[in-house]
Amino acid sequence: MDKVTIFGAGHVGATTAFYLALSSSVEVALVDVEEGRARGLALDIEQSLQYTDSCSRLEGGADPGAVADSDMVIITAGHPRLPGMSRSDLTSRNAPIVTSIARETARSAPGAVVVVVTNPVDEMTYLAWKAGSFPERKIMGMAGVLDTSRFFCFLNRIASRPASDVEAMVLGTHGDDMVPLVDWSRSGGESLSESVEPDTLAEVVERTRGGGAEIVSHLKSGSAYFAPAVSVGVMAMAILTDTGDVLPVSAFLGGEYGISGLFLGVPARLGRGGVAEVVEFSLSDGERRMLGRAAEGVRKRVSDLPDGLF
Ligand code: LAC
Repeated sequence: MDKVTIFGAGHVGATTAFYLALSSSVEVALVDVEEGRARGLALDIEQSLQYTDSCSRLEGGADPGAVADSDMVIITAGHPRLPGMSRSDLTSRNAPIVTSIARETARSAPGAVVVVVTNPVDEMTYLAWKAGSFPERKIMGMAGVLDTSRFFCFLNRIASRPASDVEAMVLGTHGDDMVPLVDWSRSGGESLSESVEPDTLAEVVERTRGGGAEIVSHLKSGSAYFAPAVSVGVMAMAILTDTGDVLPVSAFLGGEYGISGLFLGVPARLGRGGVAEVVEFSLSDGERRMLGRAAEGVRKRVSDLPDGLF
């Protein structure tokens, strides 16, 4: 059985554990500074499986050493957004948490594929990569799958066609520089910019960009968790079962799309080793420009991170 360690037993971490435990038979270690919460939720999830075909086993606790020998590590630990906060406002609070988890993972589970969920995700993925000295292809951030689920959701609400006719993706950062692809994405074979009325498409794009904040504004004391958990679960299953699916993830770029030296949301083929390759879509000039702008934003925010964190 593959072993997956999930750091953070908040709503996202716990729901991810539930999703993975139901989707497959895996060994899940749920680690949280609140030991009782991690233990209790692990037991609850394992008990929920008794009427299913899953043979998943769950353990919960506060000891980060539980990560030993994991095949995959999912980092969700950190403070969530509150109303009025941007994801970047979380940098100073979440950076030390992510750094220490990355170091423990590198020590105890050096072969694991690492997926970072903690916000601001593109910067936290970079930080974890540096702190743990992980190979570039074995670490990635989760954002594009979530942003794409929101894009699909809002497109489906206005759709005149079946969802199966729509192929769409969101790249860029998990923030203001999110890049919903309106030229590359297709509905019934036509680009969205041709097939959807411009004002309607602009609304869909804006609602996608603000999708996380919209939910925070309703919840008031936390952020979304069902769609984030399913999104990281979908990535985890693609990796563990070596599907080769192309999904939008925050991946290290070494010249693809003309960008180097940082993590940014791009299409990536996922497999057992992590990112098998970054796939270069033929984007329109406008989409490429927006991706370049997103990269410059991440580069600036990464260069502002204090050296001591690495
Ligand atoms: C969101 C948070 C998880 O987009 O970033 O809902």
